[in-house]
Amino acid sequence: MISTVLTSRKSKAIAVWCGILLLVLCLHVYMSYQDVGVPGIGRRLYGDNSQFRDPPPYNQYGNAKTIKRPTEPKQPSTPAVPQKLYTPPDNEEKKQRFPRALIVGTGKCGTRALIDYLNMHPYVVTAKREMHFFDRDENWSRGVNWYKSQMPYSYSDQMTIEKSPSYVEHPRTPSAVKQMDKDMFILWVVKDPVVRLMSVMALQDENSNLRHAYLEYGRDGKLGIRKDYYPLWRGEYVIHLRRWLRYFPLSQIHVLDGTDLVKDPITQIQNVESFLQLQPLLGPRNFYYNASKGFYCMVPFSTTTPQCLGSSKGRKHPVINETVKTMLYDFFRPYNEQFFKLLGKRFNWEPKDRI
Ligand code: A3P
Repeated sequence: MISTVLTSRKSKAIAVWCGILLLVLCLHVYMSYQDVGVPGIGRRLYGDNSQFRDPPPYNQYGNAKTIKRPTEPKQPSTPAVPQKLYTPPDNEEKKQRFPRALIVGTGKCGTRALIDYLNMHPYVVTAKREMHFFDRDENWSRGVNWYKSQMPYSYSDQMTIEKSPSYVEHPRTPSAVKQMDKDMFILWVVKDPVVRLMSVMALQDENSNLRHAYLEYGRDGKLGIRKDYYPLWRGEYVIHLRRWLRYFPLSQIHVLDGTDLVKDPITQIQNVESFLQLQPLLGPRNFYYNASKGFYCMVPFSTTTPQCLGSSKGRKHPVINETVKTMLYDFFRPYNEQFFKLLGKRFNWEPKDRI
């Protein structure tokens, strides 16, 4: 009898201990997988363990595409401000490197804004001035080593970017760029060519005849468009695109609308980050809308003070009368249509109230 009682007590105790052991085991397994379980519980018990996780799978330029990590969680498009923005590779010295991306044009379409926005990215270094290497004979004749010697210092995992806004139109540029680097990323900002023309005209004195240099009287005495006028030709984008496509596939040329860049720089810059295969770091934190200027200003990661572009950007455009406006839109329409067709996308470029 006593031995039966003892045996049943013993087996009860064993059962209780087994139960406790099982519970501890389950708890342990649960906490090991806390990142895929109910978020936060494991962290609350163990403290923030985020620093022990694998580093993000970015190598060159934070490029996530070259490493296959099927179990890696999707990167949020706008992560919180990174704790450590950039750590140079071990035992490496900065040096000058050729650009891996070029902003090729078009002047007055937002090229300065684009390169300055990109300069906020920790994996990007930008040339401090327009080099005009491919399009100006005096620079071209200095050779590629001279070009490289003009580039900023960078680490091997950073991307050097240069912009010269008339590369896009120069006949030498596409073939010369291809010879330098067949994988070069090409960035091209365009804008409604009529708006672009007015941006050029805004540079001329208000009372100067040069403000109307795109107009001329024909033999019939009628006012018309001066077709050989250089600023007009620059806006005939399809001509330039055709030339580039002889050397680069369209997938290697990212074309964006400068008006979209003014209105929504966040979306545009995130598209550019993705095109350049950069780690997605830029977001709302980097842009501040300045209502009095009517433009966004930059807020680099190193500061909370907005930095706006200089007063030469965002000028008041000349007002043109309806007849001239119609003439200009009629002139550009066929070029625009061919451009959209070749590009495989459209921009909304039709007469607007404010030019
Ligand atoms: P406007 O001055 O005619 O308005 P670029 O740098 O290629 O010369 O282009 C100049 C244009 O950049 C300006 O033309 C302006 O519209 C545009 N732009 C885009 N983002 C801007 C910003 N954040 N601040 C000022 N101008 C900006």
